[in-house]
Amino acid sequence: MNALELQSVSAGYGPYRALDEVSFAVGTGEVVALVGPNGAGKSTVARVCAGLVKPTSGRLFVGGHDLTGAPPWQIARNKLASVPEGRGVFARLSVAENLQLSFGRWLGSEAVPGALEEAFARFPILADRRRQRAGTLSGGQQRLLSLAKVLGNAPDVVVADELSLGLAPAALDDLYQQLGAVAERGTALLVIEQRTDRVLALAHRAVVLDRGVIRFDGPPAGAVGVLDGVLGGPRPPARSGETAG
Ligand SMILES: Nc1ncnc2c1ncn2[C@@H]1O[C@H](COP(=O)(O)OP(=O)(O)OP(=O)(O)O)[C@@H](O)[C@H]1O
Ligand SMILES: [Mg+2]
Repeated sequence: MNALELQSVSAGYGPYRALDEVSFAVGTGEVVALVGPNGAGKSTVARVCAGLVKPTSGRLFVGGHDLTGAPPWQIARNKLASVPEGRGVFARLSVAENLQLSFGRWLGSEAVPGALEEAFARFPILADRRRQRAGTLSGGQQRLLSLAKVLGNAPDVVVADELSLGLAPAALDDLYQQLGAVAERGTALLVIEQRTDRVLALAHRAVVLDRGVIRFDGPPAGAVGVLDGVLGGPRPPARSGETAG
């Protein structure tokens, strides 16, 4: 069974069609990289998966359930967690408060202390800084916190949109080590990235998206040449009637 599947999903914003019949799947426990240039539609895929953008056609399956058009809470209840673009933390709340708030929503108040201890065991840097306001954490620490927040719901699949954006190599190492640990516990991952080196090393499979269309779906090594072609070279119109993105 697939943890996540898009079948011929088209979606957009007003008249603009950002995704054009996109189909791909993330198997149970599988790590899939979703890569492509700026404006390709990667974040739109993430928003469709999270229920924030409704497909205009096609279907979304989470854990085998058809959740096309379902609201975000229902998708989350089906064990899909999504780490949004940006930092996804409450800047004025402490690290511990951020985690408590997020865990309380999914687990109920009685389970929060246990989940908190588990998160601190998994992310020692967050334990060290549990009383610090999240807004004053470094960029890399904030990404780790946003990842830790969604793991409290014990998701079967995590969709992470550009978690590594702007991070220096050491912070990237930490982040990818954590993503690897999440994958090792059997959680499926859809990791969206523009920088491809790390994600292609982690992923079992890669999907290349360009101007709303899937250009490649296969072994990570095979994605590199496709991406080079997409990023360089002449760019004929992807489809008729397209407006500038
Ligand atoms: N809220 C919106 N309203 C109108 N158009 C949008 C909106 N969000 C995204 N778009 C457009 O949809 C297309 C796909 O955007 P999307 O954010 O999915 O791309 P992306 O692959 O995530 O790009 P990046 O790598 O820059 O994050 C772009 O042309 C973008 O301008
Ligand atoms: Mg994006």
